[in-house]
Amino acid sequence: MSAPIFKPTKDKEFFAPFGPVLGYFKMPDTLVDQLNAAMSDQLGDHSDHLVGKVSQELAFSQDIINLAASGLGQTMIEYHAWAKRRNSLGEYDPSTKRYELQIMSGWFVRQFENEYNPLHMHTGCTLSCVGYLKLPDGIEDEWEEDYKDHHPSHGHIQFAHGTDTHYSFSNFMAKPRIGDFYIFPSYMFHCVYPFKTVGERRSFSINFAVEESDA
Ligand SMILES: [Fe+2]
Repeated sequence: MSAPIFKPTKDKEFFAPFGPVLGYFKMPDTLVDQLNAAMSDQLGDHSDHLVGKVSQELAFSQDIINLAASGLGQTMIEYHAWAKRRNSLGEYDPSTKRYELQIMSGWFVRQFENEYNPLHMHTGCTLSCVGYLKLPDGIEDEWEEDYKDHHPSHGHIQFAHGTDTHYSFSNFMAKPRIGDFYIFPSYMFHCVYPFKTVGERRSFSINFAVEESDA
């Protein structure tokens, strides 16, 4: 692919043409409720494919994949189109494209107190995501205490890419909130820190790709 050519359109502009793009979406409460209701011990164990030091990782059934795709597919496609447009410095025109979502796998992550998810990335896909479905009662008190520390991190996810340079940062954390959903490139390293509050921090992830063709 040839390098895009920058064409200024404003008198003054600051822009970020390099580096990974992340996506955020606030999931509707109904989708959160439906995904929580769909979780069951009858689902297959997915933990052999994953690095998490957590109690349970349960594979999505086809029905759950369909449910997630109907609630999140549009955002996944919008991420793809936004990133392609950013990478082309605005030349790329989504209206000339057709998109198709491919979902490789999905799974619930049931993380309890003192459990964690070591630094890892996802393979066999181009994009991945995480959505938050449940948090232990009382974890806000733990966070209030942790945020008094110089480096709060309890139960947070951390994403990392490259190394710090002048004016470019290599990592950031997100504090999970029920309904928060993040999309990230599959190669992006991330980890989840342990927390102490008794109870379940429940999330899900989906490995996917967006295929495009000319409309
Ligand atoms: Fe992950």
